[in-house]
Amino acid sequence: MTSVLRSVVTGVGGYLPDEIVTNDDLAKVVDTSDAWIVERTGIRQRHRMAEGQTVSDMAVEAARKALAAAGRTAAEVDMIIVATTTPDLTFPAVAAIVQRKLGAPVGVAFDVQAVCSGFVYALSVADGFVARGHSRCALVIGAEAMTKLMDWTDRGTCVLFADGAGAVVVEAREGEGTTEDQGLLGFALRCDGTKQDLLYVDGGPSTTGTVGHLRMQGNQVFRHAVVNISEAVVAAAKAAGVETSAVDWFIPHQANQRILLGVAHRLGIDETKVISTVAEHANTSAASIPLALAQAVEDGRIQPGQLLLLEAMGGGLTWGACVLRL
Ligand code: UT7
Repeated sequence: MTSVLRSVVTGVGGYLPDEIVTNDDLAKVVDTSDAWIVERTGIRQRHRMAEGQTVSDMAVEAARKALAAAGRTAAEVDMIIVATTTPDLTFPAVAAIVQRKLGAPVGVAFDVQAVCSGFVYALSVADGFVARGHSRCALVIGAEAMTKLMDWTDRGTCVLFADGAGAVVVEAREGEGTTEDQGLLGFALRCDGTKQDLLYVDGGPSTTGTVGHLRMQGNQVFRHAVVNISEAVVAAAKAAGVETSAVDWFIPHQANQRILLGVAHRLGIDETKVISTVAEHANTSAASIPLALAQAVEDGRIQPGQLLLLEAMGGGLTWGACVLRL
């Protein structure tokens, strides 16, 4: 029997700021309605971070819950990767700030910037370290302050995005090299930089010197989403050596209920297997998958040993998928 090192998710945790903003609240700010937002996106409310709160604050809250769920302490963490597009500062990385706030020891810490696909990218990067024996206990966090990038006069975007953080602990464990092993089993990551204009932020340190606002041609992004994501899911399942029909739970990026169900239908995944938090969380970019995962683990739907499928798509355009056994 072959023995292989696997990157196993041993704990998950999520954090949402206290303030809830409803669709009706936004209808007082821009020309929109609860009916339009619910019908076109499935979103009913979203969370917004408090004045003075930072992305690293939210990341730390999620990380503490994930560590507790894994039965680990910050002292055991040797690597922190934060997927974010809304850092506290241009540098240092949010991961470095999280390390300090958690009191974790000197180790590897850096951010991954792949926008809404960031968490899937970050998991793949973590797998590269853990499965090669370079990390024994890693924190992989998706944390975003998307409300800070909104143009509050643009109804096409400001109703969609929100704040939050989700985290997982990834630990090195011996496996047998089969699809029954616990761990990250297969990935497919993609980027098509020619589609930048469909979804981007119009500012940055080396251009405007400002943070900028998110700009999106929503219907164009939508047009690419289902096809692109479905292709990546099939590729990730192939890399893992499993059929998509074997998946117990589908945990998609929470951008739009129509997109996530569109992908599920195209892949023949039953709607009862889809974890959807878009109604309550809206689109929290890199935080959306770990937040949805945390909710479904906490409420007991997702159980250890089950096969999970994650997917996302966002600015870049980037997209990707991951198959893992919990
Ligand atoms: O996470 C990153 C990846 N992002 C995504 O996956 C987002 C993908 N895109 C989408 O989810 C959808 O395209 C949206 C939800 C953004 C928009 O839905 P849509 O069905 O594609 O609408 P549309 O952009 O084609 O706009 C239809 C109409 C337009 O009015 P006209 O030109 O038909 O008169 C818009 O101006 O809806 C209007 N509209 C709104 N109306 C009320 C756009 N936003 C709003 C709004 N309230 N908030």
